[in-house]
Amino acid sequence: MSSIVSDVVVDVQYGDCGKGKVTHHLARTGSYTHVVRYNGGHNAGHTIYHEGKKFVTHAIPCGVFFGIKSIIGPGCVINPTRLLEEMEELRSSGIDVDGLLMIASNAHVITDWHLVEDGKDSVIGTTKRGNGPAYRDKYGRKGIRASQVHDLQDYIVDVYEEFHNNQEYEQVKVLFEGAQGFGLDIDWGDYPYVTSSHCTSASAFLNGVPPSSVRNVYGVGKIYETYVGAKDFEMEDSALAERIRSVGQEFGATTGRPRQVNWFDLDSISRAIDINGVTKLVINKVDVLEALATEGDYLRVYHGDDTFSFESIEDMRYYIQEHLGRENMDIYFSGNKDRI
Ligand code: IMP
Ligand code: MG
Repeated sequence: MSSIVSDVVVDVQYGDCGKGKVTHHLARTGSYTHVVRYNGGHNAGHTIYHEGKKFVTHAIPCGVFFGIKSIIGPGCVINPTRLLEEMEELRSSGIDVDGLLMIASNAHVITDWHLVEDGKDSVIGTTKRGNGPAYRDKYGRKGIRASQVHDLQDYIVDVYEEFHNNQEYEQVKVLFEGAQGFGLDIDWGDYPYVTSSHCTSASAFLNGVPPSSVRNVYGVGKIYETYVGAKDFEMEDSALAERIRSVGQEFGATTGRPRQVNWFDLDSISRAIDINGVTKLVINKVDVLEALATEGDYLRVYHGDDTFSFESIEDMRYYIQEHLGRENMDIYFSGNKDRI
């Protein structure tokens, strides 16, 4: 029996807030034996700067960048062809995934048929990566598991054995890497404009470690909001939205679609903090609004039924801190250019 501790990284908005950056930073500290992706599939796109080079990963957890065992957990869905391609891309950039990457035997598979089905979506604005149909078949008990796929055999792992009967470590230390975000969660997001998996911290504990193992939940957001998909999300003033999109480079890492932009919503983030049990909150891309502040009224926050404007980024940060602050929660503000 090994003892287990875990930390969870979760997005408190609609994805694309910089979980990749935070997870990469945490993995680098050398405090973990495993990095585990716990939900979603190739719909995700995590942008990571590693040793000066830009990487976009879709399914592979960032532990591979640091020689840490990296598991695609049972909560995920996998497109075998795409995964093998992603592995090859990393290998050819000098990142050795072999011996590190593992796939939970009970993770589910995205088939060609799922891709065809998802390709027909015109309502939700999905990434068309087969995510929804794969989860539908999983829960309809018609799915295929990773253990049944010939090409994945070298990577299959029984996560129970890996976490609970591991003689290699005195203590198993898991970093859970989430995908998508609170506003896209199947239960807590704006249904039906959501993804088909659970994006909250609770979802991590469906991947083989007990909730009692958790130490910290890192909530990741950014100083304005973005959303990609079919619903109308953008702020009224489209000129301001366009500037933020351009300066913040807000285009999907997976599909290249422009992300709709809106102001920081204090109430929805507050709800996300409570439901996810966030203990450390990271708010990214502060420098994007800071750079725009001299051009016009870019420092705004939704709170209750009102929109508040600020004179300086310091005032805005102070207001957020005042209203989102919790006892036992630290808040960090970070810039896009801070390559931690
Ligand atoms: P699906 O997950 O491809 O089914 O897409 C459902 C919704 O989630 C759509 O609005 C997508 O744009 C959005 N979505 C899925 N994955 C991501 C992501 O990694 N970042 C941001 N939005 C995402
Ligand atoms: Mg993303």
